[in-house]
Amino acid sequence: MSENQKSNIVNLQSTIKFVGIIGSGTMGSGIAQVAATAGCKVKLYDTYQSALDKAKAALEKILARLVEKGRIDATEKSRIQSNISYVDKLKDLSDSNLTIEAIVESLEVKKKVFSELESYVSTDCIIASNTSSLSIASIASSLQKPERCIGIHFFNPAPLMKLVEVIPAIQTSKEVLEKSIQTISDWKKTVAVAKDTPGFIVNRVARPFYGEALRIYEEGIADFAMIDAAMKEAGGFRMGPFELMDFIGNDVNYTVTETVFTAFYFDPRYKPAFTQKRFAEAGYLGRKSGKGYYDYDENGKRVIQSDSEESQDEKLSQQIFNRILIMLINEAADALFLNIASAKDIDNAMTKGVNYPKGLLAWADEKGIDWCVDKMDELYNEYHEDRYRCSPLLRRMNKGNKTFFN
Ligand code: NAI
Repeated sequence: MSENQKSNIVNLQSTIKFVGIIGSGTMGSGIAQVAATAGCKVKLYDTYQSALDKAKAALEKILARLVEKGRIDATEKSRIQSNISYVDKLKDLSDSNLTIEAIVESLEVKKKVFSELESYVSTDCIIASNTSSLSIASIASSLQKPERCIGIHFFNPAPLMKLVEVIPAIQTSKEVLEKSIQTISDWKKTVAVAKDTPGFIVNRVARPFYGEALRIYEEGIADFAMIDAAMKEAGGFRMGPFELMDFIGNDVNYTVTETVFTAFYFDPRYKPAFTQKRFAEAGYLGRKSGKGYYDYDENGKRVIQSDSEESQDEKLSQQIFNRILIMLINEAADALFLNIASAKDIDNAMTKGVNYPKGLLAWADEKGIDWCVDKMDELYNEYHEDRYRCSPLLRRMNKGNKTFFN
């Protein structure tokens, strides 16, 4: 064994104890809770005292509810709380072994914070970003030691969602990747390793769930409620695409779609829909604005205004579900084809990051690869749009009579 390999093993065995979180908003405070629950000493930093106060009060409320429900006891509550300290200077994070940044989604601001942070922390501190849409390579380039930079992408709400995408940049060292995977696994999360490409796994593979649903609506095939009902009843999804877009916010969901589309050099597969753009422009953001594809009362509860859910045409439902499913499967297969992640990680990402009822590649096996290729070819033959091109991997597998998981 070489000296280098030996030192790697030593590195991997030492566990991360001191964690610095930058930004105490929705994601930062959730990640702080996860790390503190796992026993780390966490320092949560924000530039705004009000954001720190809000995070502290929110954690008290969340933990008190967990005690009420009997999920944790009072000792555990105070253990978690005493593991977190709230700081208002970046320099206070100087003793961290790992820092995770969750501030505003701006490359310029993140780069500035990262280069300042690097001047305070020790040379072996891992510097991670929770970014959803920026390239890790570009963030890492702001550091003197870019090999210590990595993407560690949690899902909202971080304490509840099992999945964490870990994204090494081309600069990231193998040790930093391995230590990050180990740490996130120690925090009892499911890790999916993704290539540093737009949308990583989930935000790439999930695009057709929204995009194809919007296209079906725009073609006049079905209304919002019919499409949602099809995905829930025929597909077993917990929420339909329009309900989910209303939940996420049409402004937020539209921006992700547009960002992914632009980042993929305008690949028509990711083309945003005018319907959603207009809803966002009109302020029909969904649940948070009281109106989106559906209406909501002041408590965010849906006001039922359509009876189309009750009068579902079963054949149409199945067609709608099949069309959205095959577009999702094709996207998942293409992500595997381009080595974005392993088959296992792609399926885990969708079941644990966005609660899909089944992994898409396992679903492809179940439906049959020949069925998948036929469905994509049907769509392509009808529309002659590049959007409906079948992934070469599905075609290759079909010829070789292969499946994703034996
Ligand atoms: P947020 O707006 O809730 O929180 C951001 C916090 O960062 C605020 O408290 C703000 O005061 C603080 N902040 C801003 N600039 C700062 C600076 N220069 N130094 C220190 N603190 C600063 O934002 P959210 O939703 O928590 O998102 C944070 C990051 O996580 C973004 O990169 C976002 O793309 C990513 N993300 C968000 C998800 C979501 O569902 N909200 C999911 C996964 C990732």
